[in-house]
Amino acid sequence: MRYRYLTAGESHGKCLTAIIEGVPSGVGIDEIFINEELKRRQHGYGRGGRMSIESDRVEIKSGVRFGISTGAPICLELVNKDFQNWTVPMSVSEIDLNNPENINKVKEKEITKIRPGHADLAGAVKYNHKDIRNILERSSARETAIRVAVGAVAKCILKEFDIRIFSHVVQIGSAKSDIDYTNYDEKEFIQKTQLSPLYCYDEIAQQNMIQAIDKASENGTTLGGKIEIICRNVPIGLGSFVQWDRKIDGLLAQAVMSINAIKSVEIGEAQKAVCSFGNEYHDEIAYENGQFVHRTNNAGGIEGGMTNGEDIVVKAVMKPIPTMKASLNSVDIATKESYSAHFERSDVCAVPACSVVAEAVCASVLADQFLTKFGGDSLSEIRKNYENYLEYVKAI
Ligand SMILES: Cc1cc2nc3c(=O)[nH]c(=O)nc-3n(C[C@H](O)[C@H](O)[C@H](O)COP(=O)(O)O)c2cc1C
Repeated sequence: MRYRYLTAGESHGKCLTAIIEGVPSGVGIDEIFINEELKRRQHGYGRGGRMSIESDRVEIKSGVRFGISTGAPICLELVNKDFQNWTVPMSVSEIDLNNPENINKVKEKEITKIRPGHADLAGAVKYNHKDIRNILERSSARETAIRVAVGAVAKCILKEFDIRIFSHVVQIGSAKSDIDYTNYDEKEFIQKTQLSPLYCYDEIAQQNMIQAIDKASENGTTLGGKIEIICRNVPIGLGSFVQWDRKIDGLLAQAVMSINAIKSVEIGEAQKAVCSFGNEYHDEIAYENGQFVHRTNNAGGIEGGMTNGEDIVVKAVMKPIPTMKASLNSVDIATKESYSAHFERSDVCAVPACSVVAEAVCASVLADQFLTKFGGDSLSEIRKNYENYLEYVKAI
């Protein structure tokens, strides 16, 4: 069994949709929880005007009855509330181009100025479009909203096995938090982080981050940063070393790297790996209270492409948002003339939101790998397989 999904939808289109295949029967699919996750993605200091319009709510269209998965594909939908203002320029059916009002509405939204840092140039060349809106609409990070909903369903599966995923922001620009999450109680850590406008546990660092974002905003520019995602209580042995495309570090890296604006992904203490000797970096193993443990977790819970029973720690760097008031120079694709790039309502900093998206895509990978290993068609079948495996691991 695999946990697979595809998404569809444009930023200003009617809706975003996902079809998830591989959810076993018997899983509680908590709509309120999915909406809470969507809300978390919309929050965070530094977001632009879109967030006040959006207020996402999921509609579960199939695969769930009375709050429980049936085993059939689950279709999720998020309606774009703003679509009412875009019915003509984003119409899927043909429109009457003899009507000057229609022409005006389409022209108003047409974009020919290529924006640096976006999919615009390569996308327009690749798909042979003259109106960059055809690229912008799908390449926009609006798509990450539906990935958060898909990740929330994955979290519903993982919750059944007490696998938890949380995250925090560790850096915005040069404002940095040196917090080590392992020093804190998990519940308190999550609660405090989620209440913070920057999803940052460290109050002093948070103040510095807010100042940095304010300054960037005043200067008409933007900021990126770094996030850390923790996956806890993941059993030993997910993923595999036997084939390159089964290595779970590779799968997580691909998933996180696919998030808009992510420019690097690290597993565990990658920076430490750069400058440490082997005896300083590698995690010693011990056998305590009937189980194998690592004395440290520099490997971030993954060795040889497999989970090793420790927390999985994924870190990722998000670049500064490319759309800025202080626009960079670029070129108009129609006239080839130089222009100051197009500015459309935009975030100054979306690193906190990005941490929620990263949790979601990690959850989808873990659900997929969990179901691959313990797979069955119903939750009860999977539970038996899992318990059996835990017994086997205990008996080693
Ligand atoms: C949650 C989130 C929100 C984002 N918001 C914006 C935004 O408001 N404006 C913008 O220009 N880019 C935004 N981005 C980044 C762009 O979508 C991204 O840089 C662009 O699609 C190009 O992709 P690439 O950076 O992966 O090459 C956001 C990214 C994420 C993850």
